[in-house]
Amino acid sequence: MWDYTEKVKEFFLHPKNIGDIENPDAVGEVGSIVCGDALRLTLKIDKDTNKITDAKFQTFGCASAIASSSALTELVKGKTIDEALQISNQDIAEFLGGLPDEKMHCSVMGREALEAAVTNYRGLPAVVEEEGKLVCKCFDVTEEKIRKVAIENHLTTVDEVTDYTKAGGGCGECSAEIEKILKDIWSLKVPEKPALPKKLTNLQKIALIQEIIEREIRPGLQADGGDIELIDIDGNKVTVALRGMCTGCLMANVTVGGVQDKLRELVSEGIVVEVQ
Ligand code: FES
Repeated sequence: MWDYTEKVKEFFLHPKNIGDIENPDAVGEVGSIVCGDALRLTLKIDKDTNKITDAKFQTFGCASAIASSSALTELVKGKTIDEALQISNQDIAEFLGGLPDEKMHCSVMGREALEAAVTNYRGLPAVVEEEGKLVCKCFDVTEEKIRKVAIENHLTTVDEVTDYTKAGGGCGECSAEIEKILKDIWSLKVPEKPALPKKLTNLQKIALIQEIIEREIRPGLQADGGDIELIDIDGNKVTVALRGMCTGCLMANVTVGGVQDKLRELVSEGIVVEVQ
């Protein structure tokens, strides 16, 4: 049993704006009954102001699909077309006090119906999914949709993509392809860890540690009335002494941990810093 918020229950049991507007100015239809979810959104729009004066929906789907579609109609009413386009699927979920992760695809369907309705109102051709880009055959989900939803919602795992698009939630054959798409999206955006310097001789290592302590660490400590002194370097063991305000400071462990992290990042991952 899903853990629905009171607002989801309310919008499911007593949905607002259910039905079809007669002679609508915009129609957005998304999903398919074969795939388990479908939504038809109709809008009445004031042509002078571009304001949405009425919105109704018809949906085939679960409790969250009904609640999300109803929430969408409430959110768009009174807004201009441009303002309505700012509504994200996260906004729909937030309006309902949240949706179970596995049901986030219902909020995505609402957002898609809104985009389709605006496209229709503007007289633009409906977006046709290109053949050959289909990733999930069970739920008819294209690579374009996976990319768009993953980027908009910061999705990094196949399970999350399934929650938001249903792709991967059937036979599972498309999981590897989804994984590849996610890797491709995020490998372009996640900065790589800086490469450590090539293997150093002992002398180079000692010189580099001294330089980093002088340049990167001491100025910060001195600014707070403290200081650090390099006592000894034995292999990966670096012994230091804390001076000034750092002596006996309650945060000394944190300071030493920070020194160690910096030396591990810039000199060698095996470095251990000890206090004399
Ligand atoms: S092809 Fe995607 S779950 Fe079956």
